[in-house]
Amino acid sequence: MAQSSAQKTQRIGISLEDDLLSQFDDLITKGGYTNRSEAIRDLIREKLTAQKLKAPETTAIAAIFVVYDHHQAKLAQKLIQLQHSHIIHAISSIHIHITHHNCLEVILLKGKVKEIQKLADSILSLKGVKLGKVNLIAAED
Ligand code: NI
Repeated sequence: MAQSSAQKTQRIGISLEDDLLSQFDDLITKGGYTNRSEAIRDLIREKLTAQKLKAPETTAIAAIFVVYDHHQAKLAQKLIQLQHSHIIHAISSIHIHITHHNCLEVILLKGKVKEIQKLADSILSLKGVKLGKVNLIAAED
């Protein structure tokens, strides 16, 4: 991520067993990294973000993936109602007709982790919803 002001950087040394280092190098090579520092920085950021997202008050952006049977009476309307009625901000939604029976809806939201989870639970428990997945990223520095 681009930073508006240059931050002071510190060099640190890490001791690792040969075997662990070799596995790490394999992993980051497969991931397309050309140096260890960038891979380690990303791992640290990932861990910090995961930690933040465990806190219910953290503001996050969520993508909720919902696969549902569009023949299920009034389900599409209920999905829309839930997005309108909730206190968190629904940014956008995308609808894709996958097969004759199934539709995919991706709902993008911004709100506190606890509110997103509440809405996701309401959506995923609707009759006719076959699959659901919630992806979160922290919307904070
Ligand atoms: Ni559809």
